Amino acid sequence: MPSQLRSPLLPGSAIGVLGSGQLGRMFAMAARRMGYRVHTLSPDEDTPTGQVADLEINSCYEDLDRIKEFASGVSVVTFEFENVPAATAAAAAECAPVRPSGQVLHTTQHRLREKTFLAQSHFPVTPFRRVGGLEELAQAADELGLPAILKTADFGYDGKGQFRIRNPEEFSEAWNAIGRREAVLEAFIDFECEISVIGARSIDGEFVHYGPVENRHRNGILDISVAPACVPENVAREAVEIAHAVLDKLEVTGVLCVEFFVARDGRLLINELAPRPHNSGHFSFDANVTSQFEQQLRAVCLLPFGSAVQHTPAAMVNLLGDLWSEGEPDWHAALSVSDVKLHLYGKSQARPGRKMGHLTALAPTTEQALQDAQRAREQLRRSAD
Ligand SMILES: Nc1ncnc2c1ncn2[C@@H]1O[C@H](COP(=O)(O)OP(=O)(O)O)[C@@H](O)[C@H]1O
Ligand SMILES: [Mg+2]
Repeated sequence: MPSQLRSPLLPGSAIGVLGSGQLGRMFAMAARRMGYRVHTLSPDEDTPTGQVADLEINSCYEDLDRIKEFASGVSVVTFEFENVPAATAAAAAECAPVRPSGQVLHTTQHRLREKTFLAQSHFPVTPFRRVGGLEELAQAADELGLPAILKTADFGYDGKGQFRIRNPEEFSEAWNAIGRREAVLEAFIDFECEISVIGARSIDGEFVHYGPVENRHRNGILDISVAPACVPENVAREAVEIAHAVLDKLEVTGVLCVEFFVARDGRLLINELAPRPHNSGHFSFDANVTSQFEQQLRAVCLLPFGSAVQHTPAAMVNLLGDLWSEGEPDWHAALSVSDVKLHLYGKSQARPGRKMGHLTALAPTTEQALQDAQRAREQLRRSAD
């Protein structure tokens, strides 16, 4: 690699972010706090990232001339949205370093490629089969057993593109429901709990991590994260070791989250990877010396990592658009819980299931933090009555 590509990008440099959601917004806040400029590109306007960036470019990801122009105007390109086409990452890479690399994106944006990579690298992964049609679905269900979950190979998030199959009568409904396209059938895991480890890796292989964090989902969408997770020490250690090995194997320069199921017998199974900061790490903005977003910045700018130490137990609850169904939530009431921090993403349209913001509570114990975060969220709702 030419030496100038290994030199640190210092404050004042411009960072390009592909994607424009809340992850980019919090990244941009961390970057601007440290004196960087942030340019964002996505097909949308007045976006969560664009509102706090120096420059918001409105373009589709397929317009490769615009992508090259965008990359030429920054010192490094990173992303907050993993469904950027491979050709887009390649076009950007002609004009600026892309971190993490397009190869990391390519592997992790497609469930089948991701799971195949994990299985071939001998990481513990939920049993799965590729499904390309109804006959293969029946065969896969025969091998894995029911219940099982059918998931589209690409473009899934927040539980979208998934169907839980309980009996063979549901095969055709499931296949239609996910749009009759390439999919993965996964054994249903009767887990004890779900945890995640967010790792950050430097270009030279230095590693820091957040976690494990315990995650509770509702309707396939993350609802609550509690940090640190209350799991036995050997489970926590193993989860961090696996995450470290995954980031090494993928040669990530940046941040990547590993989501796990903890089986009833304590075994860990990887559910999925996300090659970027993750919803389950939002607490780190308030509860850690250095947030996941700042570590992403430091990693892509080739700067030393900050301490990832968590100074206070924390719990985060997501605020979905459903909360707006009867009008504006009562922010005043929620903020009367004094250890709670409010984060809103600047989205003007509150649709059911859409992530609009989150609350993080900081307290002497995780139990207290969880109670406070939930109480504050309840108070937002109460106002709607
Ligand atoms: N094989 C499975 N067994 C049990 N629960 C699952 C399984 N797959 C997914 N889920 C539940 O659905 C949630 C979302 O699924 P996930 O595969 O992580 O998709 P997404 O990309 O939408 O986050 C998981 O966090 C878990 O709660
Ligand atoms: Mg997930």
